[in-house]
Amino acid sequence: MAKKYKAINWNQVSDAIDKATWEKLTEQFWLDTRIPVSNDIGDWRTLDTDHQWLVGHVFGGLTLLDTVQSEQGMAALRKDVITQHETAVLNNIQFMESVHAKSYSTIFSTLNTPEEIDEIFDWSDSEEFLQNKAVRIAGMYMDDTVDPLKKKVANVFLETFLFYSGFFTPLYYLGHNKLNNVAEIIKLILRDESVHGTYIGYKFQLGLKQRSEKKQQDMKDWLYNFLYELYDNEEKYTHLLYDQVGWTEEVLTFIRYNANKALMNLGQDPLFPDTAADVNPIVMNGISTSTANHDFFSQVGNGYRLGQVEAMEDSDYNVKDPNEK
Ligand SMILES: [Fe+2]
Ligand SMILES: [Fe+2]
Repeated sequence: MAKKYKAINWNQVSDAIDKATWEKLTEQFWLDTRIPVSNDIGDWRTLDTDHQWLVGHVFGGLTLLDTVQSEQGMAALRKDVITQHETAVLNNIQFMESVHAKSYSTIFSTLNTPEEIDEIFDWSDSEEFLQNKAVRIAGMYMDDTVDPLKKKVANVFLETFLFYSGFFTPLYYLGHNKLNNVAEIIKLILRDESVHGTYIGYKFQLGLKQRSEKKQQDMKDWLYNFLYELYDNEEKYTHLLYDQVGWTEEVLTFIRYNANKALMNLGQDPLFPDTAADVNPIVMNGISTSTANHDFFSQVGNGYRLGQVEAMEDSDYNVKDPNEK
């Protein structure tokens, strides 16, 4: 007889973390289109061209990385799940990665001209140090001979470490009470990423525990080397983005701090001496994951609101045929 198919049973969950993560992620669901980014146009006009360039290009870089996550990342991790509920959680994450990738386009369409947007995407699709990280991580995702636990490490390093050179800019502006709606989108992304990083890191630790002591040590040696390799590239990427505005050293402190957090998600000891106390306090302030709660129609916020839900009626299906005259 052919292999039978197993229906997912949410009343029998073998790993309570799967259920808790599903609930957390669905509770914090959001969409970019509900954030009033156009309220930031006034702030945007006060920035000089160097700072406008920086904002556009950090978001270009983040678009590329979220694209990798939505197109390759979750599909790769889904091949190595232990539970069916884990698949469901990864499905949720995959869709949200598409929302993240799209949300930068919402920002561009509000702040940038069509010519600027074209230039930003040309840059993202070709810039050497940005492409290095995307190609390195996506290459591991797509290679079936790569150890599944190493794919989880790549995922956590990407999300808890490599995104942060980009996140620095909106958090910096938020700390200066500028571009608050743009920053709201970034904070919603950060809130998601912090759950993703913890969850995938936890699944990594479960897998690692199953291995011999020798294999565990080999994995640790490998992951610290891999982190050094990524940091080396990240330093160059940071110089490229930030030298012109003079923020490079501050950003490097911030990314080393986040590299330690990525290691923490994986159950490993920190590598760098940098702690939260070393990071620019204005940026640290912005990173606290609570969101400002925006009302859709005004900037006076009391938090991101979920849509009002009502039952569908037959009349909801009376959609006009677009070809009808
Ligand atoms: Fe993301
Ligand atoms: Fe993520």
